[in-house]
Amino acid sequence: MRGLGDKVVVVAGGGGIGSATVHRLADAGARVLVGDLDGEHALALADAVREAGGQCLGMRLDIGDEGSVRALVDAALNEWGGIDAMHVNAADLQVVHQDSDVLEEPLAVFDQTMRVSLRGHVLCTRAVLPELLRRGGGSLVYTSSDASAFGEPVRPAYAMAKAAIEALMRHVASRWGREHVRANAVAPGLVVTPNMAATLPDELRERALRVVRSTRLGAPHDIASMVAFLVSDEAEWINGQVFSVNGGTLLRT
Ligand SMILES: NC(=O)c1ccc[n+]([C@@H]2O[C@H](COP(=O)([O-])OP(=O)(O)OC[C@H]3O[C@@H](n4cnc5c(N)ncnc54)[C@H](O)[C@@H]3O)[C@@H](O)[C@H]2O)c1
Repeated sequence: MRGLGDKVVVVAGGGGIGSATVHRLADAGARVLVGDLDGEHALALADAVREAGGQCLGMRLDIGDEGSVRALVDAALNEWGGIDAMHVNAADLQVVHQDSDVLEEPLAVFDQTMRVSLRGHVLCTRAVLPELLRRGGGSLVYTSSDASAFGEPVRPAYAMAKAAIEALMRHVASRWGREHVRANAVAPGLVVTPNMAATLPDELRERALRVVRSTRLGAPHDIASMVAFLVSDEAEWINGQVFSVNGGTLLRT
């Protein structure tokens, strides 16, 4: 893919989708820093990428903590002298199961969802944007979800946070587009990550397969490919968009 090699990319949230993205970017020659709340996982992921011949560092990140986000950005600057792109991808999917409905969900679940999926994304944007501008431009890719548009009877906090991420993305694209900053969002459908594979109820898997206009559910590499494309120079005229990568489950207009 044109214009990925040598780019410095920071990935915030290196779980199932994030891990695939880190590998995909590094395979294409990018230098990747991955941060995750699970610091040991981030370090192990970076080791695995380096063993495969890529350039990657990992560190612990709490995306809701301004100092921690600053430290992530600083680590990339110290190592590579600048940043070309960031994939803001973290979400607390542990609490999403308690995100029942707006009457019943504990406010602590709402607050935690907003902390990670909203405040954290704002903190990343505030930390990395000046660095992209110093570089003469760059790309921000946020992970949203089709849940932002589905209108479901469950997980209102998650859907609200993802809709807000899309609003943030449009703001960044609109405010800094002429300074060569591109911001876009990827909205995955149901993506079966390694962690999820063991716990996904058969009934949910079958229901998802009934509504997808494909023969299978999503895999992390499906999302990684879109993120890599949006980071690359191939996507230089793409700005302010939400891309559903969902096997055709939700058909956006
Ligand atoms: N898997 C799906 O079906 C699906 C569908 C739509 C959207 N998404 C979105 O894709 C993204 C990745 O999800 P995933 O499926 O890979 O899940 P995942 O749980 O494997 O990855 C999320 C990562 O975020 C990290 N994280 C949580 N809180 C954090 C914090 N405070 N600071 C830093 N990191 C933190 C977790 O440790 C985890 O590694 C999320 O934004 C999620 O909402 C996933």
